[in-house]
Amino acid sequence: MSNYHIKHLEEYYQVYRKSVREPENFWAEVAEEHFMWRKKWDKVLQWDFKKPEIKWFDGAQLNITENCIDRHLVTKGDKTAIIFEPNSPDEAARHITYSDLHERVCKMANVLKSKGIKKGDRVCIYLPMIPELAVSLLACARIGAIHSVVFAGFSSKALASRINDSECKMVITSDGSYRGAKTIDLKGIVDNGLESCATVESVLVVNRIDAEINMKTGRDEWLQPLLDEASVHCAPEIMEAEDPLFILYTSGSTGKPKGMVHTTGGYMVYSAYTFKNVFQYHDGDVYWCTADIGWITGHSYIVYGPLANGATTVMFEGVPHYPDFGRFWEIVEKHKVNQFYTAPTAIRALGKQNIEFVEKHDLSSLKVLGSVGEPINEEAWHWYNDNVGKHKSPIVDTWWQTETGGVMITPLPYVTPTKPTYATLPFPGIQPALLDESGEEIKGNQVDGRLCIKFPWPSIARTIWGDHQRYKDTYFSAFENMYFTGDGALRDEVGYYRITGRVDDVIIVSGHNLGTAPIEDAINEHPAVAESAIVGFPHDVKGNALYGYVTLKETGESRNQDNLRKEINQVITDRVGAIAKLDKIQFTNGLPKTRSGKIMRRILRKIASKDISNLGDTSTLLNPECVQEIMDGVL
Ligand code: WT7
Repeated sequence: MSNYHIKHLEEYYQVYRKSVREPENFWAEVAEEHFMWRKKWDKVLQWDFKKPEIKWFDGAQLNITENCIDRHLVTKGDKTAIIFEPNSPDEAARHITYSDLHERVCKMANVLKSKGIKKGDRVCIYLPMIPELAVSLLACARIGAIHSVVFAGFSSKALASRINDSECKMVITSDGSYRGAKTIDLKGIVDNGLESCATVESVLVVNRIDAEINMKTGRDEWLQPLLDEASVHCAPEIMEAEDPLFILYTSGSTGKPKGMVHTTGGYMVYSAYTFKNVFQYHDGDVYWCTADIGWITGHSYIVYGPLANGATTVMFEGVPHYPDFGRFWEIVEKHKVNQFYTAPTAIRALGKQNIEFVEKHDLSSLKVLGSVGEPINEEAWHWYNDNVGKHKSPIVDTWWQTETGGVMITPLPYVTPTKPTYATLPFPGIQPALLDESGEEIKGNQVDGRLCIKFPWPSIARTIWGDHQRYKDTYFSAFENMYFTGDGALRDEVGYYRITGRVDDVIIVSGHNLGTAPIEDAINEHPAVAESAIVGFPHDVKGNALYGYVTLKETGESRNQDNLRKEINQVITDRVGAIAKLDKIQFTNGLPKTRSGKIMRRILRKIASKDISNLGDTSTLLNPECVQEIMDGVL
């Protein structure tokens, strides 16, 4: 029996049971049947969650780009690998075949080499959703350089801290980007950021918007002339399975972002195997994930997973509301998209518009709808199912994380019966557990607890770049011998999982994972601010929006509050990025604190959500009197 493509429910249960009983045999079969290895592994799995240390396919050698590109050339050279749909519908879409992609990646890889980039060097990629972005990831992988993609919506400060953390030698960027009717000065943001980055030796610049930009002599170069000169031949660097493939930063509940390190062999196997089954991809289908490649969703399910399966993957440069709210559906119709993968926040925003934006487009090509990034609420689920899927395309609500590399809990379309708001069943190889606060596993059904994973899977992040201790503390210390996800979940009577949300200080806004600490740090840099606390509150489009409680220094008390609010949001935009701006800012004389000085966010969260019927015990607070003041001033 081939485990690679699961087609019905009994088969799922069979495969799942095998993956738990004999995980090594199971993964060895998947890895052997469907990928190209230069040398086979010595050992399928070595692991110790206590250290923690995890190795998959140790001793094996490969290059992921051979798997994503070269091996398809004989049979699929002329097949479209990437459909590029530009920001403006007036600009023609571009079809990049597997042969084209091979040529572009080899040329780009040769340009990187000519700039001194070698195996193990870090390259920061800060680009809009244009083909050069996918090509840059693959070019790094071709020569064994470690890519660190930074979402091109992040500020210069956020960019600089990520570049410095992993000591990138190069930045690949563009002169600017299109975002709906606007353009964004990406190169200006890079220039600002690089003022504090000593490790960057060269900057390659894609011309996307024909902007007049500053080019620093000896550091910056336009990419195209270098590509024109480059050879189309570039032998793939032979990598060890456990060599790092990329670093991707994700917010933590405290301090600076965590550079999650993903390695080559296991990540390839898991992203490809999940792609095939989670989307039931068949040869000839057109698949579209609307995420940005700057997030893990784009890494795994726009680039690596689809290409490893020889699929056709759409890359969209623009936004859902430009030129109008019908854009997504226009693209589905235009490219006859079969699998469509987006986020609840986009579904909610589109669901608020006139239904004609959906109805005027032919969506009959759709077979599978996906959702990712946060819990999808019942209303959004039904809107998606009724209006987009028309009750014939199953919705896969896929739960996973930057750290997990691939989808972990999900229905398989046409295999697993779906249930609104439930991510349903674990993917083969995934062993979830629910734990209570004392660390006991809660067995049985109809229970809820903290979601942990008991056993390693091939694409689990192996460490945090430069800080293995933090990796251990964050994921492996809360519960013994378990990977702790940071999420709460419940398990229903048939064993389906429903993710109930974060149990730590991470807030998900429009599908973006934001830590409270970096935002509070930014606010506190405003000269008038003494202290601040951020919480999430329910928002009908973003899922959660940010509510900030701010106490002012004496010097700030006489200031105009509206001006202060604008300035605070500006500091956040500069230090963290516009996605972290606060929807509401309440000025208060105090923040509720425990006797050990920890801010009681639980209370602040309830007040911001206007859920004050049961604030719990406030008598243990150091300063209970501030609670009433905050309630009186709630916005
Ligand atoms: C957190 C991870 C993985 C891609 C995008 C986000 C939340 C993600 C779901 C879902 C409920 C979800 C969790 C998770 N989340 N998908 N289908 N249902 N919650 O990656 O930025 O690393 O965030 O997003 O809270 O822990 P990320």
